[in-house]
Amino acid sequence: MYSGLPLKIGRTASDGTFEADVLAGLSKRPRAIPAKFLYDAQGSALFDAICELPEYYLTRTEIAILRDGVHQIAARAGAGRQLVEFGSGSSVKTRLLLDGLADVSAYVPIDISGEHLEATCRRLRADYPALAIVPVCADYMELPLLPWLPGAAGAAKLGFFPGSTIGNLEPHEAQAFLVNARHLLGDDGALVVGADLKKDPDMLHAAYNDSAGVTAAFSLNLLTRMNRELGANFDIGAFEHDAFYNSDEGRIEIYIRSLRSQSIVVAGQRFFFEAGERIHTEYSYKYSLGDVDALAAPTGFIRAQTWTDPDELFSVHYLAAV
Ligand SMILES: C[S@@+](CC[C@H](N)C(=O)[O-])C[C@H]1O[C@@H](n2cnc3c(N)ncnc32)[C@H](O)[C@@H]1O
Repeated sequence: MYSGLPLKIGRTASDGTFEADVLAGLSKRPRAIPAKFLYDAQGSALFDAICELPEYYLTRTEIAILRDGVHQIAARAGAGRQLVEFGSGSSVKTRLLLDGLADVSAYVPIDISGEHLEATCRRLRADYPALAIVPVCADYMELPLLPWLPGAAGAAKLGFFPGSTIGNLEPHEAQAFLVNARHLLGDDGALVVGADLKKDPDMLHAAYNDSAGVTAAFSLNLLTRMNRELGANFDIGAFEHDAFYNSDEGRIEIYIRSLRSQSIVVAGQRFFFEAGERIHTEYSYKYSLGDVDALAAPTGFIRAQTWTDPDELFSVHYLAAV
């Protein structure tokens, strides 16, 4: 019997992947830890705070695009879709689709941050009591299947991947994600995806280096998580957040930088850091419309429609299965 708690599909951080990936990532050069580990419960709460920052234009711009475009999205999608969201976070933008689409047959939010997913679904169930909500705690890069839902078994699926989360994936990873999403969503499926657009580097720099220091706290929370879950001894004050736009690669690059030479123990292994040495934690790729077409082309999706804001800061795409 389904309990309402998130279903766990595939491997998540609680299966020891966090320890194994951190040890491997700290041992290689350049050092790197996968971005998905930024999202424990505290990381998810800090991400929500980032979304409210004046410098972080992405969230409010995407919400405005979705609010204006939802009727056109609904017209394309038709009635009775099963809504499947990848990296659902607090499911704030989702509410625009739940309110604007006709007769959504079920909602399947997928996120790696299990506690946050559970709390989000409690709020959604209170606000949408008639909707079947089946959360899945999983790594969407390793998701082989979706839950079978008796009430929505024959429903065509609409995927939702907002938040510029696709930009956190390197292009080859983004293509692998789209190939798998195409498989999961099926031949009558479609995917609504939000991608941040290329723009003035100063505006990008400000968005990832906010004056209140919330983005820095989000980055450095990864050290706190390693201290708590892997018995590490990072002195958080001895590291800093380092984010900049690499225009050659068309991406924001985010690192944690050691402020002095120091040695750290993580899960019983010792690592030496030079002053200035960095751990890579995240990319945020910025797209042009042509980049989106090139990305989608080999994945079985075609860009059927695109919505942007008047300043062309952000884009939302309806990718239809071909
Ligand atoms: C940039 S936030 C976007 C959140 C929300 N969709 C929005 O638009 O505000 C990325 C979300 O994806 C989740 N996430 C990141 N990597 C993931 C992965 N590999 N598998 C599943 N969820 C992941 C995070 O926990 C977080 O909730």
